[in-house]
Amino acid sequence: MATIISVTNQKGGVGKTTSAINVAYYLAKSGKKTLLLDFDPQGNATSGLGIDKQSLTGTMNDVVLEQKMLHEVILQTEFENLYVAPSTPELANGEVKIAGLDRKFTRLRNAIQNGPVFDYVIIDSPPSLSLLTVNGLVAARYVLLPVQAEFYALEGLGQLLETMKLIRQGLNPTVDLIGVLPTMVDSRTSLSQQVLAEIAKHFPAKIFKAAIPRNVRLAEAPSHGVPIGVYDRFSKGARAYKAVTKEIIERVQ
Ligand SMILES: Nc1ncnc2c1ncn2[C@@H]1O[C@H](COP(=O)(O)OP(=O)(O)OP(=O)(O)O)[C@@H](O)[C@H]1O
Ligand SMILES: [Mg+2]
Repeated sequence: MATIISVTNQKGGVGKTTSAINVAYYLAKSGKKTLLLDFDPQGNATSGLGIDKQSLTGTMNDVVLEQKMLHEVILQTEFENLYVAPSTPELANGEVKIAGLDRKFTRLRNAIQNGPVFDYVIIDSPPSLSLLTVNGLVAARYVLLPVQAEFYALEGLGQLLETMKLIRQGLNPTVDLIGVLPTMVDSRTSLSQQVLAEIAKHFPAKIFKAAIPRNVRLAEAPSHGVPIGVYDRFSKGARAYKAVTKEIIERVQ
């Protein structure tokens, strides 16, 4: 059975998509058959892997509406072992529609359970605690929580942990944090260091050793439609995501 990890933080722009793409890439590179499941209507994970949204014949919107099976929308990427389930802004309409339908919280879980076999499924979530995000949390075994190393970083995390707790008491008793990943860390600023220390204090057992530095190469890679490991595999950002992926594999085992 696949290890399903939802990359979640309701705060916008903290590095969810960057983490989802690059962790998925390094999992695939280490030989794990991996699905990057774009579950954000912004479709950033889809375009970040160079997929032309105009050319799609099916998306996660069709899947949540149960008009297509997951295997019908999955695309093989040019990177070995890496597959994508794409999303477009249409998914925002899909979210509104499923809100009025049966089994609205379990649509994603059912789709993955009835889908093809993978070693890992990495879900990229939207920046809200919406129905889509909840579907991700209900489907997932683990939550990967990227936290931007800035002043307001920890604000709002209580809400997310509360939501996870409710889901654990209800639809998904085994969902658990796999780790907290500090992102956009600037080693030159004391603020960054303070926030790192703060995160470590709140999540002593969960913080990843390999924090993600602020690295312009990570921001450039999506415009070339490739993961950092292809765009600039010796960059600091690439090394950090490679190390985090190794930690993830260790924590799963
Ligand atoms: N470590 C980093 N160093 C430099 N830039 C980064 C880094 N991580 C992400 N970025 C850039 O910051 C922006 C936000 O990152 P990203 O899209 O991954 O966040 P997100 O949490 O997925 O955003 P959203 O909430 O909108 O989905 C992007 O332009 C991305 O390229
Ligand atoms: Mg995103």
